[in-house]
Amino acid sequence: MRYSIAAPVLALLASAEGAETILGAYMFHRHGDRTPKSLAPTNLTTLGYEQGYTSGQYYRSRYLTGPSKIYKLNEDIVKLNQIAVTSPTDNVLQISAMAFLQGLYPPVGQTIQVLANGDKVQAPMDGYQLIPVNTVEAGSGSEDNGWLQAATGCYKATTSSNNYFSSSEYESLLSSTADFYKQLVPVVNGTLAENYVTYKNAYIVYDLINVATIHNTSIPSSSTLTATTLLQTRTLADTHEWNLAFNASSPIRSIAGMQLAGEILTSLNSTITSGTAGKTANKLAIQFGAYATFLSFFGLANLPAANADFTGVPDYASVMVFELFTTVEVAGGYPAKQDIQVRFLFHNGTTTEASEPVVYPLFGGASGAVSWVEFEGKMRQFAVLTTEEWCGKCGNTTGACAAYAGGDGGEELGARGKGAGGMSAAVGGVVGAFVALGVVFLVLGAGMLLGGLRLVSRKGLGAGKATQVVERKV
Ligand SMILES: *[C@@H]1O[C@H](CO)[C@@H](O)[C@H](O)[C@H]1NC(C)=O
Ligand SMILES: *[C@@H]1O[C@H](CO)[C@@H](O)[C@H](O)[C@H]1NC(C)=O
Ligand SMILES: *[C@@H]1O[C@H](CO)[C@@H](O)[C@H](O)[C@H]1NC(C)=O
Ligand SMILES: *[C@@H]1O[C@H](CO)[C@@H](O)[C@H](O)[C@H]1NC(C)=O
Ligand SMILES: *[C@@H]1O[C@H](CO)[C@@H](O)[C@H](O)[C@H]1NC(C)=O
Ligand SMILES: *[C@@H]1O[C@H](CO)[C@@H](O)[C@H](O)[C@H]1NC(C)=O
Ligand SMILES: *[C@@H]1O[C@H](CO)[C@@H](O)[C@H](O)[C@H]1NC(C)=O
Repeated sequence: MRYSIAAPVLALLASAEGAETILGAYMFHRHGDRTPKSLAPTNLTTLGYEQGYTSGQYYRSRYLTGPSKIYKLNEDIVKLNQIAVTSPTDNVLQISAMAFLQGLYPPVGQTIQVLANGDKVQAPMDGYQLIPVNTVEAGSGSEDNGWLQAATGCYKATTSSNNYFSSSEYESLLSSTADFYKQLVPVVNGTLAENYVTYKNAYIVYDLINVATIHNTSIPSSSTLTATTLLQTRTLADTHEWNLAFNASSPIRSIAGMQLAGEILTSLNSTITSGTAGKTANKLAIQFGAYATFLSFFGLANLPAANADFTGVPDYASVMVFELFTTVEVAGGYPAKQDIQVRFLFHNGTTTEASEPVVYPLFGGASGAVSWVEFEGKMRQFAVLTTEEWCGKCGNTTGACAAYAGGDGGEELGARGKGAGGMSAAVGGVVGAFVALGVVFLVLGAGMLLGGLRLVSRKGLGAGKATQVVERKV
């Protein structure tokens, strides 16, 4: 599906063109092509590696070297305090981030260092640039998980999503699609049990078939998979996932989007704070994450009002970007907050020069940009900024939340959560990630300039059979 864009948005863009300066950006990126969730551990494929790399090349040309380059962001040699790259602990997401970074900051060529004793050392791999991918705690194991809330660890969100399975909408789709799914059994019964193949598992069934159509040269009973059937498989998965990720009457369901909103606000705010202090840090933040986080955020920011396609699962390597920009002269110093604006862009699938991201109005508005002040106000209506807020909204009282649990505590009945390992102390970490990042970068900055430290192994990427992969669905 292609996107249309409202005429006023185009007009606004045209009028702003030329005079503007991009001050910073926040990107949220989906991983590239991977193996199916039902055959965990999930792995990024060679195709997925190439998609992440291609996207990195595109955003290099947009934000580092092109006419829309980000103000004072290093062009060729990465300056680590300018960029923040994050991902949940999940192989598919982490190595997608590394693939992207290879395209964003390619090797700088031979660099020779002369030691005190006169020895010369040469940087390996043609000056490959080493950029840490820091982890956010929310979302561990996303890609190995078929259940959206398993990676959030949020009690009330889990309960809310589970309520979908007792809604009349769900019940009616479950029965009306029973025959449709029955005909798919011979296609997927090599992997999935027959009674599993129903609307209840719409995404897992779609995911297995979708991966097979990309990679398997032969699929059992493939004659069943007509274009119409494939489309319906995807559309039903979209409906299923959208409903688990967002419900206007039960906002907590979108906790993943709320946390992301908090991270976006904190990050863009730090771009402004740094620039106002005359520094050049915190220019570009890139988080890799799962499609369910996209869907939750789309719902919270009312993007379906701009285009109904926002209720569908974004394709691999999709990206949403928040650009911070000004139309005021910045040469003499950073503009005041009132002169800073934010624009939202989205690209479905891998971004290339031939297929660039498109601007959509946020919050059900009509304009392709909002002032920073309005953006901050609207995002704050749903953003979760602190661990305390998270605990309060989620109704969690144990683990990292014990410190904030006043009153009676209340019982917590984990509904269907599969318990993504290592989630507990995590949530606080997610919210605090950007605060912590500042510290990380200080420490890193002291210890290394260009090379030296590599936080994530990139072994196995080229082979397409990396280690194990996980992305939680939220
Ligand atoms: C949305 O949330 C409301 C309020 O909790 C609930 O009554 C309704 O069934 C939910 N709908 C879906 C589709 O989950
Ligand atoms: C899958 O279904 C087909 C057709 O019903 C059947 O012939 C086959 O034995 C089944 N395979 C497995 C692994 O259950
Ligand atoms: C696709 O191939 C993989 C690996 O051979 C296999 O496990 C999977 O069941 C196949 N999927 C389908 C739908 O045939
Ligand atoms: C933005 O930065 C200012 C100045 O550092 C700080 O007072 C404020 O709390 C920050 N807001 C957010 C949302 O991070
Ligand atoms: C992205 O493309 C998929 C189909 O490939 C579609 O289902 C989904 O709605 C699209 N999302 C947006 C926001 O365009
Ligand atoms: C929140 O509470 C639920 C239900 O008790 C629990 O499964 C989950 O692990 C808790 N999350 C955290 C981060 O402690
Ligand atoms: C992913 O890679 C691991 C080895 O690292 C392998 O055991 C697993 O079977 C792979 N998964 C798929 C679906 O190919």
